Amino acid sequence: MRILKNLFEKNRKWARRIKESDPDFFARLSKQQNPEYLWIGCSDSRVPANEIVDMLPGEIFVHRNIANLVIHTDLNCLSVIQYAVDVLKIKHIIVCGHYGCGGIQAAMDDKEHGLIDNWLQNIKEVYRYNQVRIDALQNEQEKINLLCELNVVEQVANTCHTTIVQRAWKSGQELAVHGWIYSIEDGILKDLNVCVTNPDEISQTHRIK
Ligand code: CO
Repeated sequence: MRILKNLFEKNRKWARRIKESDPDFFARLSKQQNPEYLWIGCSDSRVPANEIVDMLPGEIFVHRNIANLVIHTDLNCLSVIQYAVDVLKIKHIIVCGHYGCGGIQAAMDDKEHGLIDNWLQNIKEVYRYNQVRIDALQNEQEKINLLCELNVVEQVANTCHTTIVQRAWKSGQELAVHGWIYSIEDGILKDLNVCVTNPDEISQTHRIK
């Protein structure tokens, strides 16, 4: 109970496997990380960033929370974005949601869930902005999945509105913000085609001159 032996065993095997295929792998990585991508995804255990895009340690900088939200008062998420953009100089921010997200589903019901309700309020806002379109659908699962997509679109916008991203663009830094969605059912990623690469593509109300 106090020592999770099986996880340490798995870890040793994993490290051995990597070393066998690339003897210098860990030595090289220990000197620096140079990822090109920041992944902002859901905490759901079925949506692991590295595995989905088949990337090794060192290739992707990751932030995950419930329902992949980018909230302007969330110092945790903002700090990750700032470090990734200002220090690591990543070129792409990927906001990745997934169909059947439990956080989205919980935000759409009228039950109490405890502390997390405060977090889910942010998703309820996205639901409210798009209520006519979502409620026009008959099937419950389709409603949830549409909000999963619309939530990604909203979080892409939130990411672009941060002073961090806008300052990077202003200084001429190359930076694209992408919105993707993942299907747990078949392991396939879909691009929602909402990529933003410069301040002219964001709403005027949020643009900083
Ligand atoms: Co989720």
